[in-house]
Amino acid sequence: MKVYYLIFSLLLMVGDEVFAQNNIVLKSENNIIPTPEFFTSERATKSKFKNIEFNTANLTAEELTVMQSWVDKLFDTKKNSEAPPLKVDFTPAKSAESSSDMYEIAFSSNTIHVKYTSEASKLYAVSSFLQLINQKDSALFISPFRLKDKANFSWRGLHLDVCRHFFSIDELKRFIDIMAFYKYNKFHWHLTDDQGWRIEIKKYPLLTEIGGYRDSTVNDHYSTIPRTYNVEKYGGFYMQEQVKEVINYAQARNITVIPEIEMPGHARAAIAAYPELSCTKQKLPVVGLWGVFDDIFCSNEKTINFLKDVLTEVADLFPSEYIHIGGDEAPKARWKACGVCQNNIKKYNLKDEHELQSWFIKQMDEFLTKKGKKIIGWDEILEGGLSPNATVMSWQGNQGGIQASQMGHDVIMTPVNFCYFDYYQADSRYEPLAIGGLVSLEKVYSFNPIPPEVSEENKKHILGAQANLWTEYIPTYDKVEYMEYPRALAMSQNLWSLNKTTYDDFIKAIVEKQSFVLKAFNINYSQSFARPALSSKAMQSGVRIYGNSPDNKGVEIDINESGNKEFISPIHKDSVDINRSNEAMRIYTITATENRLNTSSSTQFYLHKGIGLNVELLTPPHPSFSNNPKSMLVDGFKGIRQWSNRDWLGFNDGNIEFIVNLDENITYKKVSVGLLSDHSSWIHLPKEVMVYASNNGKKWEKIASEQVKSERVEIKLDKKTKKLKFVIVPFNKIPEVFNGAGYHPFTFLDELIFE
Ligand code: ACM
Ligand code: ZN
Repeated sequence: MKVYYLIFSLLLMVGDEVFAQNNIVLKSENNIIPTPEFFTSERATKSKFKNIEFNTANLTAEELTVMQSWVDKLFDTKKNSEAPPLKVDFTPAKSAESSSDMYEIAFSSNTIHVKYTSEASKLYAVSSFLQLINQKDSALFISPFRLKDKANFSWRGLHLDVCRHFFSIDELKRFIDIMAFYKYNKFHWHLTDDQGWRIEIKKYPLLTEIGGYRDSTVNDHYSTIPRTYNVEKYGGFYMQEQVKEVINYAQARNITVIPEIEMPGHARAAIAAYPELSCTKQKLPVVGLWGVFDDIFCSNEKTINFLKDVLTEVADLFPSEYIHIGGDEAPKARWKACGVCQNNIKKYNLKDEHELQSWFIKQMDEFLTKKGKKIIGWDEILEGGLSPNATVMSWQGNQGGIQASQMGHDVIMTPVNFCYFDYYQADSRYEPLAIGGLVSLEKVYSFNPIPPEVSEENKKHILGAQANLWTEYIPTYDKVEYMEYPRALAMSQNLWSLNKTTYDDFIKAIVEKQSFVLKAFNINYSQSFARPALSSKAMQSGVRIYGNSPDNKGVEIDINESGNKEFISPIHKDSVDINRSNEAMRIYTITATENRLNTSSSTQFYLHKGIGLNVELLTPPHPSFSNNPKSMLVDGFKGIRQWSNRDWLGFNDGNIEFIVNLDENITYKKVSVGLLSDHSSWIHLPKEVMVYASNNGKKWEKIASEQVKSERVEIKLDKKTKKLKFVIVPFNKIPEVFNGAGYHPFTFLDELIFE
């Protein structure tokens, strides 16, 4: 066995040269996701087969079932064909690389030979070569190839929140099956939260009986005022037998299920069932609103023992060595006012409530360590001192991960700006409701699990990463898939691939192959990544509008009102120019259509007298909200309520000043300033807008001073002038009743409409 393996390896090593002499394609143009480390193929030759036959010699019945189910999803091999079967055989290869699930595949004599170093690597091999097979009519085709591959990171995870919305066992199985196909190996199951307790705990039946259901659910985005509720009972839970079913299903696909039991925060569902677990012992309902709530687990002995009982059942149920104990977003208001909690601070010689939280987590760490388990906590568990055996899940950014790795702790990276798939994946104007933000496919693809600040020595502590799916705005399983795919393909590249391709090649793989795979698995994947975006640039006499598509295949721009149709190809080179004119404002619809994937997007364009005017920003915008600063305010596109950092300029440091140089050939009667109010995101209307006029930029005359009452402030322009200076005065602090009270508010500015 060993000798054969060695020869096989040598063959692979010299593969490049051998193949080069035969004029064979060397580049890894295989469209496999995640991209294998090494791949060569004779693409000119194709062999034809009628079906796929797995040699069961080294397969368990369970493995065969999974493999066969994938084949059945991808290909229709029921029809008769003259061609022979494509045989697949598996040979074990002892290797030091079994920990990275290394496998090799070679194709010869109508057979795919798989050499595997771990049980998991058998399925990884199958997922890879299935992506090389094409079906035409009733036959399967494959070209001779060699492939060698292994995993980059050992933690390749996806997280799913089943508390905000509940998903069935069958849906969880679908979630897990496609994960396995893309070589993920950790399923983080978020089982308890304020809005629902979802796992049966035999000792405490009320957890699911009461805590599994809420009476109402907030409609729309939770920041929408006034809030309205859907007053229907909502919920569900998994019995322990069902949990085992999920664990076993995942295990058959080499996926470990990591349960999360949240503490001390996000505990409202548990407290609804057993009010004595909280500091106030007040009877409270399971929450139907999203957010962070003050009522958390008390640090009293009864609650600590309750949680140990819960963790005992959880530890018995889940074979995973890791158990996630939450630890995030636990407000300390109740602990500050609680005699027992304050007494514990004194009794255990702690400095404050943060140290009390550390003490709390440490109780669980010690308890689970004795049971041979390890805890994972969100990065807040660093506050007040990190528990000795804890692994940190770094979500607020990279900082928690960097710090924990310096302390010698293991880390799983899941920074919100790259890994939160509940964020919008594209322009929110065209997307179904999401929590906010923007984590585009390209952004996900740019993610490196190892933050640059982590030293060579500490890299070993970064186990990998995972994408998280919080489901406040994801009521159906269809939408789970829509938010997850294809972003999970990008994440799989980041986690598995030692030979990650360029983003363009990744898009090519989606277009040419993965869209077929996802359809075959019946995944409701999003095509938003392919939607062309419109961007613009201020020019001397107007604006230039660009259509950008992800695969650079050309975009057709259609300008509705004028009937003007321009074909732009290839993109980034051509564009449509729209000139400023002295006429009354007109509103056009500009539609960009990407022909290859047949996606399009439309945007209202305001052709006003200020299009493309020269704007000098005297106050720089905040770096996070500073896209296209020269053109943003006069590009004809209005910022929208479902804002992202793309279409507003944001400021949060005192007065905002800028000068607009007017066009002498145009008569201006008024200008209006676009502003945004979104209190949940600290964005407030400013107090006042002042405007000054000047012909030389030295002597300024104040012409307007408007108190701001709405999101558009109008200023009359009576006299002819060359320059206008705007001074926008925000309030100094966010008032007490709002999110971010006491901090500087953000002012969001967009289109200045001149008429
Ligand atoms: C989290 O997103 N609160 C971990
Ligand atoms: Zn308390």
